[in-house]
Order: sequence, then structure tokens, then C-alpha cells
Amino acid sequence: MAEKRENVVMFPFMAQGHIIPFLALALHIEKTGKYKITFVNTPLNIKKLRSSLPPNSSIQFLEIPFNSSDHGLPPNTENCDVVPYHFVVRLLEASASLRTVFKQLIEDIIQEEDGHRPLCIIGDIFFGWMAGVAQELGVFHAVFSGAGGFGLACYYSIWLNLPHKEIKLADNHFLLPDFQEASKIHLTQLPLTMSEADGTDSWSVFHGKYLPEWSKSGGILFNTVEEFDHIGLMYFMRKLGRPVWPVGPILLSIENRARAGKEAAGITPEFCKAWLDTKPQNSVLYVSFGSMNTISPSQMMQLAKALEVSGKNFIWVVRPPLGFDINSEFKANEWLPEGFEERIRESKKGLVVHKWAPQLEILSHKSTSAFLSHCGWNSVLESLSYGVPLLGWAMAAEQFFNVKLLVEEVGVCVEVARGKACEVNHEDVAAKIELVMSDCEKGKEIRRKASQVREMIKNAMKDEKGFKGSSVKAMDNFFNAARTMRGQAQKQQNGRCT
Ligand SMILES: *[C@@H]1O[C@H](CO)[C@@H](O)[C@H](O)[C@H]1NC(C)=O
Ligand SMILES: *[C@@H]1O[C@H](CO)[C@@H](O)[C@H](O)[C@H]1NC(C)=O
Repeated sequence: MAEKRENVVMFPFMAQGHIIPFLALALHIEKTGKYKITFVNTPLNIKKLRSSLPPNSSIQFLEIPFNSSDHGLPPNTENCDVVPYHFVVRLLEASASLRTVFKQLIEDIIQEEDGHRPLCIIGDIFFGWMAGVAQELGVFHAVFSGAGGFGLACYYSIWLNLPHKEIKLADNHFLLPDFQEASKIHLTQLPLTMSEADGTDSWSVFHGKYLPEWSKSGGILFNTVEEFDHIGLMYFMRKLGRPVWPVGPILLSIENRARAGKEAAGITPEFCKAWLDTKPQNSVLYVSFGSMNTISPSQMMQLAKALEVSGKNFIWVVRPPLGFDINSEFKANEWLPEGFEERIRESKKGLVVHKWAPQLEILSHKSTSAFLSHCGWNSVLESLSYGVPLLGWAMAAEQFFNVKLLVEEVGVCVEVARGKACEVNHEDVAAKIELVMSDCEKGKEIRRKASQVREMIKNAMKDEKGFKGSSVKAMDNFFNAARTMRGQAQKQQNGRCT
């Protein structure tokens, strides 16, 4: 007899950086063939998401009613990526007001399934309130973090302790009181919302209220790999007394990424591959700050000079610098050194790509040697999955802590610059590019470590007869925990009936 498929309910915060990892996880879980997946979000996001599923997918989308006008947001604002920055925290606050509606939605699902509860609810790191809802309904709940363990541990600890306000060290460094293993953090490694936080601002209030709620959850799923991210994972086990399940890397495939509605690429994958094919092995630097970030005009000028001075081959994804509309036309003659594009076209040294490049094709190509990146966790996982070492230039959120982990603990990264406001000198940047790409001892060591991490990742995801990698085991353990809890809940209920 075919067993009834258990329902898994997933609900990410309304931002591409959260929705995409959740979608990748949903597709990953779907592949097991054992679960029915209900993916919850607000109407406009669902509308966009429908077209990003492969045609044979059985994932079901469920709209949760939301009207941004009711929350002091501009009309039709349901995604972080379309609001000015100061509205982001308001969108967070608005999402917390979905508690009652969400509870009703789960109750409706239970009723439709003749009293059968979903196997689990997987909620966002920003939806601490959801753990309490699940508890009230007797449903297993887990937080899913698209961020890595170390980065999120720093983020969590700083929001709950605001240590930079308490500890005034002469050299602007501070320690995290409950996460000393992270070692010293410098003030310049804090994103603006954090460095300005004093405990009374909207961000502090929001996080102060909802981050502690994680202790009501069954545990945390991480898109990371235990073997190189255990310090951060240990932090949460200790802090919350709950299990963590490092199940990564779970990434969207090339096909699904294309479907996820990326804007028109600056170049086609075919063109990109053909260009890379003409280059020697390990000779190309890939430069991209992700789709949400850009650098200042002077930083852009210095980076261009650095690329030219270094003499390396490169693919550089450019966006208009800070102060200009990030989606406007790129003006090379204004924002790059005079004659830059012509010179690199003639020398065939570089490709300047507008807006977006096929990242996985580039990282997986044998000609690619290093990745100068903002170190968003998805980019980090993609780079390391192909054994490509990084040059880190964090821009926002927990990216600074990702760079710290990769430089200090994993040894696969050199930090190039910090943030969108720092002074950048092209000679420094060129020297760091040389360090990572050349045959000096340090460069060799970094590349050797990156290859080791690639093997760790391969092993973690291995699922063969007689061998399961750590990430595969963690996924099994997660579902076992959910089933165990359901068994207990049912026993309790049966006990009540008799
Ligand atoms: C859908 O088709 C793709 C490509 O043929 C396959 O890899 C994937 O496993 C299929 N998914 C499902 C849910 O059947
Ligand atoms: C949202 O609320 C506003 C103001 O109450 C209303 O005018 C608008 O029609 C609503 N939008 C939707 C999609 O219901």
C-alpha cells in the first residue's frame, strides 16, 4: 500500500536571499519522493515563484494574505529587494504580524487532512514567532538558515549582546561574551545596522524579541557543511540546547536558477564558456558582488586599476556604483578608467559583464582560479563546491563574519577590503590578487586548502550504499526527529482519549 506522503510546510522571509535557499531546500526534499511540500509566502512572491519551478515539480504554493498598505509600506511591497533600505525593518515587523493568520492557515491544513498534522514546519531565521505557533499546534518546527553556522552565530550573539556598546577596547576590537571561540571582531566588521544599534532602535528591538524564540524550536537546519563550520554549529547547540542539522550545500541547479527569473544575463553561458576555453587552466579571476550589492565610484575605479595592473585574466560583473540606480545602464566611460574597456578588449584579458553572469558555469570551469566576492553564503558554497579560493570583500549582513571564518579558520580566503565605504588602493588589491593566484607558498597553500574543502563537500553530500556523508545523515536525522516528535504527540493525544 502506498504510504500517505507527509506534509512539510516551508515559509521563508520575503526576500530573494531567503526565498532562493528555501526553494533549493524544497526541491532537494522533493527529490526524496517521500514528502508533500507546501511552500507559503505572500501573494506577489508566490506569483513570481510559480514560474521558477520545474514543470514536473509537485511543490504546492500557498498564499498567505498580506497587504503592504496595512503596514505603512508602499503599495504592493512584498519583497525586501524592491524596498528602500529603511523599509526593510518595517517589512520584518510586518511579517511578525502574520502570526495569527499563519496559525489559522496551519489549522486549515490540519482540518483538510482530517486532523492529520503536517510532519514539520520549516521557518525563517527572522520568523522566531513561528516556533511558538508550531508548539501550540503540536507540530515539529525547525529554523532553516541559508547563512552558515559561524556567520549566523556571530550575528545572533551580537544582536543579543551588543558587545561593541559595552566593551571599549582601545583598538576597536571586541569579543563576543557567549562566543569567545570566534575571537576578536573589529568595529569595521559590523554592518551599519549593527554598529549603530544601541538596544532601542527598531532592529535591536525586533531581534531582541524574536531571536530568543528559537529556543522553542526543535532545532536548526543549516545550509552548510559540518566539517568546516563546526564552531558556529556548536555555538547554537550550546546556546539553545537544541540539535543542529548541517545539510548543505543545497544549491539551485543551473536550470532551476535560470527559471528562478534571473534578469537578462549580460552574457550567455555559451559565450562565457567559449571565452574561458581560450584561457589557460587556473588563470582567470572571477569578480562579482552578487545581485544586491555594488561598490562606491572610487572603489570601482581602484578595482579596475588593480585588475589592469595585476595583468590577470578576469571576468568582472559590474553594476552602477553607489549613488546611482543599481538597475540603470552601466556607463563605462564615466565609472571606469579612461579607455579601460577598449584596452582589455584588445588585449583579450578581461570580460566586463553588465548585471549578471552565469556564475556556476564560470566557477566550474577549469580556467577559473579565484573568486573576488562579497562572500554571501550562497556564493561561498558555490565557490568552494568547485574548489575555487576566495578574495573576500564583505558588503553587508553576516558577510563580514563569513570572510572571518574563511580567512582565520578554513584558510581558503584573503580579505581584500571591508564594506562600501572603506578606502581601497589598487596596488594593495593587485598584491592580494597576486598572492592568491600566483605560485608563492601562500597562494599554493590557499589553493590546496580550497581543493581539500571541495573534497569535504563532495563527501558530505555522498549517498552511496554503505556510506552516507555528514550532510545526508543530518537530513535523515532531521526527519527522524520530526517523526519521533509526531509519535510522542500522538501518544499523548491517544492517552487523553482513553
Ligand atoms: C524533474 O525532472 C528533472 C529532469 O528530468 C529531474 O532531474 C527531477 O528529478 C524531476 N523531479 C521530479 C520531482 O520528478
Ligand atoms: C490593500 O489595502 C489598500 C488600502 O486599504 C486597498 O486600497 C488595496 O486595494 C488593498 N490591496 C489589495 C491587493 O487587496
